[in-house]
Amino acid sequence: MRILGIESSCDETAAALVEDGHVVLSNVVASQIQTHRSFGGVVPELASREHLRNIGWVVQQAFKDAEKTFEDIDGIAVTQGPGLIGSLLVGVSYAKAMAFSLKKPLVSVNHVEGHIFSAFIENPAIEYPLLALVVSGGHTSLIFSAKPGHYQSIGRARDDAAGEALDKLAKYLGLGYPGGPLIDRLSQNGDPSRFAFSIPKISDGSLDFSFSGFKTAALRHIQLSAIKPRRPGGKISKIALDLITSYQQAIVDTLVRQTQKAEARLHPRSILLVGGVACNSLLRKTFKRVFEEEPLRLEGRASVRVYYPSPILTTDNGAMIAAAGTPKMQQADPLNLALNASADLRLC
Ligand code: KG4
Ligand code: ZN
Repeated sequence: MRILGIESSCDETAAALVEDGHVVLSNVVASQIQTHRSFGGVVPELASREHLRNIGWVVQQAFKDAEKTFEDIDGIAVTQGPGLIGSLLVGVSYAKAMAFSLKKPLVSVNHVEGHIFSAFIENPAIEYPLLALVVSGGHTSLIFSAKPGHYQSIGRARDDAAGEALDKLAKYLGLGYPGGPLIDRLSQNGDPSRFAFSIPKISDGSLDFSFSGFKTAALRHIQLSAIKPRRPGGKISKIALDLITSYQQAIVDTLVRQTQKAEARLHPRSILLVGGVACNSLLRKTFKRVFEEEPLRLEGRASVRVYYPSPILTTDNGAMIAAAGTPKMQQADPLNLALNASADLRLC
């Protein structure tokens, strides 16, 4: 089964052709980083306009790269939500028009489920039950899945998402946009223990996440230590370097701690680390150590396997949407024109 996946929920216009849910024939991503960079974050109106400009050539390029024609696909999968409504509408409207004119089935995909499926592309035989940490600019969620297609929300962000928290500090310090990859790279040379960030305890015992306290604490550190934002083209000061390193450490510690608690409660066979922030080298390294290497050393075997997709599949892309849409194709309505974008669509 050959599926076209279309993704436009935030600031990437993406399309991909995927066979049988895991063979990626093409994967085209048009990033809008240049458009939003000077604003230090995504401007929704500009994002919709860019999607409109890009969607046509991105889809055509996906067919060209795969050396296939429109007739060669069995169906279309598109991100329905959650995301920016104007951005989602571009992808959904394009997919509906294409499905209608080609008379091909159309299925909708939840963006968060798409991120979960990104891990299956390179590892189709991932074992259930699984626990997924979906961590990106818009989401921080722990999701448990006992069997394919069934999801249970274990923890979610109560305020900022982890990527958003990284992007915001980078903006305050004049580092650039998006902040996550810059903080990842720069913090290789910083001191993670110079600044204290206390990890909030969520009193109801839930496995939710809260990162806004870190942001307030970082602002206090900036004020008390008189840390100046970097001047354009200037060098980052040692103290600012130590601040972002300590901040990243606190965010990673929080993500790891909540995932450890979820793992101890639910005993999954697989852990999936997905979403843009899953590219983070400290987060990947810590997951590997905590869930694979340490159990192996202490107990002689790892109780759980950890999966991290390649970076191109980790950030927003069309291949993960095609992969998540493939199992839904069997029940697809051939003319699902009632489908509409949904900004706050829930997975579970
Ligand atoms: O999944 P994604 O492309 O879009 C959303 O669904 O939000 O994730 C984008 C987020 C941004 O916040 C970006 O700063 C973060 O992923 N990110 C990273 C890294 N690469 C991307 N955060 C930390 N370390 C990275 N290496
Ligand atoms: Zn995403």
